[in-house]
Amino acid sequence: MVIFTENEIESIDLGYKLGLILTNPSTILLEGDLGAGKTTFTKGIGKALGVEKTINSPTFTIMKCYKGKYPLYHLDLYRLNGVNQEFDLEEYIDSGIAVIEWPHQADELLPEEYLRIIITIENDKRKFEFIPVGKKYEDLMEVFMNE
Ligand SMILES: Nc1ncnc2c1ncn2[C@@H]1O[C@H](COP(=O)(O)OP(=O)(O)OP(=O)(O)O)[C@@H](O)[C@H]1O
Ligand SMILES: [Mg+2]
Repeated sequence: MVIFTENEIESIDLGYKLGLILTNPSTILLEGDLGAGKTTFTKGIGKALGVEKTINSPTFTIMKCYKGKYPLYHLDLYRLNGVNQEFDLEEYIDSGIAVIEWPHQADELLPEEYLRIIITIENDKRKFEFIPVGKKYEDLMEVFMNE
């Protein structure tokens, strides 16, 4: 499934729409270049979960946890190689909504099932491509498309 957004607000709204139908736990992989809109989309997920704190880029911390309807673990693995700190990805994945930017930095730690979202900058729009992996996420996309 492919959806285009024309501005930041529309990308937040798209994340919001997904956030409303997420069940706990869920894993969302966000792929796309620097500035594609991964964190912007995550803000919408947080809004749907009732997160009150402002979600911003966790680039220098690898992971930020936000309190909401479910725990939201926002991970940015961009600098993972440069950090010699251990982190338990599995624990986040099992216990909350794990939204992972730059997931390929930890390919070997990823679960078998997840929702993969590829964001591409196309002219002045953003293209969001949703790729569910596993039955649970295929069902989620069915619901998402019918909303
Ligand atoms: N349609 C759009 N959707 C999302 N962001 C947009 C859009 N159009 C313009 N922007 C701008 O693009 C930027 C996206 O930044 P964001 O931090 O979300 O990217 P990112 O993919 O998380 O980058 P990084 O890999 O550096 O963490 C913001 O400055 C936002 O205002
Ligand atoms: Mg980001």
